[in-house]
Amino acid sequence: TEAPLIDPFARAITYLRVSVTDRCDLRCVYCMAENMTFLPKKDLLSLEELERLCSAFVDLGVRKLRITGGEPLVRRDIMTFFEAMGRRIGDGLDELTLTTNATQLRRFAKPLYDCGVRRVNVSLDTLDEGKFREITRWGRFAQVLDGLDAAQEAGLHVKINAVALKGVNDDEIRSMTRWCHDRGMDITFIEVMPMGDIGGEERLDQYMPLTAVREELAREFTLEDIPLSTGGPARYVRAKETGGRVGFITPLTHNFCESCNRVRLTCTGQLYMCLGQDDDADLRAVLRESADDAPVRQAIREAITRKPKGHDFDYSRREIRGEVGRHMSVTGG
Ligand code: GTP
Ligand code: 5AD
Ligand code: SF4
Repeated sequence: TEAPLIDPFARAITYLRVSVTDRCDLRCVYCMAENMTFLPKKDLLSLEELERLCSAFVDLGVRKLRITGGEPLVRRDIMTFFEAMGRRIGDGLDELTLTTNATQLRRFAKPLYDCGVRRVNVSLDTLDEGKFREITRWGRFAQVLDGLDAAQEAGLHVKINAVALKGVNDDEIRSMTRWCHDRGMDITFIEVMPMGDIGGEERLDQYMPLTAVREELAREFTLEDIPLSTGGPARYVRAKETGGRVGFITPLTHNFCESCNRVRLTCTGQLYMCLGQDDDADLRAVLRESADDAPVRQAIREAITRKPKGHDFDYSRREIRGEVGRHMSVTGG
């Protein structure tokens, strides 16, 4: 049997995030430039190759698999991949899940549930239809609402992810929280990270520390810290008045790298050891060189020995430090 993956800082790697496509049907302004050049389809790993790589990770002790993008549900035939990985639940995997913008959930919620998915995280930064269109550049809010309904009807537990953006959704912190909790959904706020060129200085202007979000919430809710751990980076509180949960993902104000348990695979088979660093390993080359999985497992082990301590994101003195060139859509957050 294989030894587990342990990095140089004694962190066990048990969580793999897999971006199955860099494409998305939306263009959130803080995430992508309007005119993105997407990867040519020939560079993508096939779904069979993705499955083979992910299975190798599960063999090496990964217990949680999160499928991301871009938007994972726009990749053609993606359900065959979910079906394949769903077969590893209970056979190495504890959880198979995804992060999505919900536009395709009407169609996919039930099939996802049938593959063993029990929870989805949905990126949604506003409840205002006009604002939603501005943030996503052309998204239809009604379609997302319908997707959320479909998810809940299918029995999927929903968590909303909202990037906190000053001047954009800072007036909706409390209303979004109440709205989510009224519908039995959790909500997690995220500090915007300096990743990929989005044109201009907006990011620094829009950055909002979650300490401010927490203060805003405390005006209406009694917040109690709770020990919940999903294996992700969020810290959670419960709002006493609603009984619902609020998560905080604070790469800038409270670095959580010390307890990092994850690495990220791109749709071209590059393994990024850290969201906030550029170093990667080319697993596609190894995969295509041999039908044997032993060299693949060896390449994964070698890559993990290079996992850095953490990111260097920093917005202090109105200057962005630690910025990485690739967009979030390459590694899916
Ligand atoms: P849960 O399973 O619900 O805990 O989800 P998760 O937080 O692990 O995954 P999700 O896709 O919802 O992640 C939300 C966001 O958290 C991502 O889009 C990133 O912005 C951020 N995030 C996740 N992992 C990391 C990480 O390792 N480092 C940093 N800096 N940010 C991360
Ligand atoms: N900083 C923080 N979160 C981001 N996301 C996309 N770009 C950024 C960024 N620069 C979020 C999306 C989604 C998740 C996959 O990543 O809103 O919730
Ligand atoms: Fe892990 Fe890097 Fe994210 Fe820190 S920034 S939590 S080390 S992936």
